[in-house]
This record gives sequence, C-alpha cells and structure tokens, in this order.
Amino acid sequence: MRRSLIMGVGSALPERVMTNDDISKIVDTSDDWIVERTGIRSRHIASDAETTRSLGTLAAQRALADAGMAAAEIDLIIVATSTPDLTFPATATLIQADLGITGGAAFDLQAVCSGFIYALTTADALMRCGQSASALVIGSETFSRILDWQDRATCVLFGDGAGAVVLKTGEGQGSNADRGILASCIHSDGRYSDKLYVDGGPSKTGTVGHLRMEGREVFKHAVTNIAAVMEETIAAAGIRADDIDWFVPHQANRRILEGTARKLGISAERIVITLDRHGNTSAASIPLALDAAVKDGRIKRGNLILMEAMGGGFTWGAVLARY
Ligand code: UT7
Repeated sequence: MRRSLIMGVGSALPERVMTNDDISKIVDTSDDWIVERTGIRSRHIASDAETTRSLGTLAAQRALADAGMAAAEIDLIIVATSTPDLTFPATATLIQADLGITGGAAFDLQAVCSGFIYALTTADALMRCGQSASALVIGSETFSRILDWQDRATCVLFGDGAGAVVLKTGEGQGSNADRGILASCIHSDGRYSDKLYVDGGPSKTGTVGHLRMEGREVFKHAVTNIAAVMEETIAAAGIRADDIDWFVPHQANRRILEGTARKLGISAERIVITLDRHGNTSAASIPLALDAAVKDGRIKRGNLILMEAMGGGFTWGAVLARY
C-alpha cells in the first residue's frame, strides 16, 4: 500500500518578539489576563521585509535540509495560508520560484487555521493516487497584517510564522504499524462563517480587511468538533487514544487543547504546546509545533502523532501519522 512518509520538518519565525506587556502598551489588556485565558506569553511579529512567502521559503528550505532531499525532487507544493503575499498568483508559486523548482504543481489552500490539516490530507490523496511522488506542505501566515490592533479581544491572540514538512511516497503493509499518514478526516460547516472571518476581500470590498471573531462561540464549537474529529480519525486507523505518543494540536488556546486531550484521555505530558511563545499562527501552528518537538528530541522516528485543528468557516480536521 502506498503511503505518504514524513521525510523532514522545518520552520521559520520572524525576528521580532512581542510580549504581552508590549501589547498592553497598545490596548487595554494585561499579561495576567492573556496568560490566564489563553496561555500565550509572547508571539513573533513580521517586519515589512518578512512576508508569508519569505517565511514559507525559509521553512521549506529547512524541511528539505532535514529530509536530506534536493528541491528538484519536489513535484507538489501546497501552501496553507489565509494571508498570501498577493491576491494572486498563489504564494506556493512564489515559493516554488524561490526554491528553483520549475516542474510539478504548486497551489495555495485556504482553510484558515485548519489549512495545514486540509493541505496534508490533499497532498496525501494526490500522492496515494500516483499524481505526485514528493511534496512540500507548508503552513505560512502573517496574521499581524490583518489584525485590528485596536481590538483587544483578537489582537492579543495571533502571531506570525511558518512551518513545513516534506512528504515522499513509500510502500507500507497497509497496517497502522506503517510509517507515514495513516488516517485523516476533514469537515466544514459554513453556517458559522460569521463567527470568525475577515471583513474585507477583493470581490466584496476591494480591501484586505481585518479579522473579526466571536471568541466564546468559536471556543464552544472548537472543543466539541475537535474531540469528535479526533475520535473519528483514531477509529478510522483502528487505534486507541492510548497508542498516541504525541498530540500536536493547533495552538489557539491552552484551555481548548488541554480540554480536548482530557476528553480523549491523552495525558498532559504528551501534548506539544508552543502557543506560549508563538501565539496562534493559524495554518502555521501545527508544523511549527511539530518542528519544535522533533528538533528537541521529543518526537522520534516511529512515534504515532495526532494533529488537529479548527478554524474559520468553520473548518476542522485531524491527521494521524507515524513519524
Ligand atoms: O484559531 C482559530 C480558532 N480560534 C479559537 O479557537 C479561539 C477561541 N476562543 C478563545 O480562545 C476565547 O474565547 C478567547 C481567548 C478569545 C476569549 O476568552 P473568553 O474567556 O471567552 O473571554 P470573553 O470573550 O468571554 O471575555 C471575557 C471578558 C470580557 O469582559 P466582560 O464583558 O466580562 O466585562 C472582555 O471584554 O474579558 C474581556 N476581554 C479582555 N480583557 C483584557 C476580552 N479581551 C480582553 C483582553 N484583555 N485582551
């Protein structure tokens, strides 16, 4: 059975770090409130010279180096982002050019914070059907550009960054002992599109717009939807929650990720948490967390990892993989 193996991981963060105290000089908030309600202590904010493209390219180069593969081997690039450099062409094609790749396909995928899960699922499907042999799946965001820096309910939550994985097809036995992506489930429900959205866009306003969110509503749905899709994905692979070595969640709110882990009986020591220093980086948060835990030696080859996310749309999903 054809499997999509994770060959390498990489990430990139803007140089500038903004602490909660820094934000409290802009809006009426405090380090205590932000830490207690979210778990976030600081985030990285892109300079004018750092963009979704430049961060994504750096993360991709680091993932290729980690995989020991040449850029020329890649025949598919998917960039999950809601903050592209330009309305078009796709940031994926800009990164393709930066990497010196001239063949294969490159496109962006828009599923907001669930973008990386959607992109992994799409790449895996294209690889298993034989369309692509090696892929770069990148989550890259500069949410600082679409925040309303006067709105304390949202501007304290997000940060900028990028993460990438290199996938390559390999043969497995068809059992959950295989390496690579073992199961994935994605969902959406557009009835909730007004709970988390950007109030501008090329067709409707001709502007970029700002992020708007009903935080409490999103929170409520997040815990329910994430727990359900995690259970669905675990069942699809025929494993138990106990078998999971590392839970690598989208980093939106510490209470959400600890609450969903608890619902499934995943112990707190097995959760990879980076939101304290990254904030919510939307589609970049899972590969950023994955890279941190691989590089510090927590996630090892053969470990079973469960990734999940929920975001605007609503969209949500989970991917189970053996690293
Ligand atoms: O990645 C995409 C998915 N996004 C999410 O998963 C986010 C989900 N939502 C959340 O994480 C939480 O709802 C938030 C962290 C956004 C907010 O936490 P909350 O516990 O739901 O707070 P709240 O919105 O109910 O606000 C509580 C109080 C309000 O004051 P009153 O009305 O009780 O007097 C807010 O005005 O906290 C106030 N508040 C703040 N105070 C200080 C809101 N933002 C701030 C702030 N600093 N930054």
